[in-house]
Amino acid sequence: MAPEVVLIGPPGSGKTTVGAALAEALGTMCHDTDAAVEQAQGRTIADIFIEDGEPAFRALERAEVARALREETGVVALGGGAPMDPETQVALAGHTVIFLDVGISDASKRIGFDQSRPLLSVNPRASWTRLMNERRPTYTRLATHVVDTATRTPEDIAAEIVALL
Ligand code: S3P
Repeated sequence: MAPEVVLIGPPGSGKTTVGAALAEALGTMCHDTDAAVEQAQGRTIADIFIEDGEPAFRALERAEVARALREETGVVALGGGAPMDPETQVALAGHTVIFLDVGISDASKRIGFDQSRPLLSVNPRASWTRLMNERRPTYTRLATHVVDTATRTPEDIAAEIVALL
């Protein structure tokens, strides 16, 4: 089996909320790879970064994304940095990938920049903007469709995605 839709985008693009609304619209489930890594590890992503470092987190994430792309059905939402991994990029080929695009002001309204995202814990708005500038070409290249999420409800965005499928 394989997912019907894979959601990618930066932190604050609504992957979790849109994923839930989209899964409901499609009558299926949303699988969140960040949540799966945390559950398997029994600790938060912030703690994995602190205790083991980012490369260790990325290895866990790569393995979970590969498994989810093979085995999950319905909607799969990837962590914001997952699509930057070359093996993940290869694994995404052939899947329906939706890039949820967003600007800094809507992203910061959605996530509020607490300590749960280690890459955004210092100068969050500048760090988010730098990451998005680095990643945007990759998100765009991997996407089957790009969906603008600015100032819209998860249900509206999910309806747009359903119409694209
Ligand atoms: C990350 C995004 C986070 C999480 C980790 C790293 C990133 O996921 O995987 O903190 O590199 O952008 P969200 O995009 O769900 O916040």
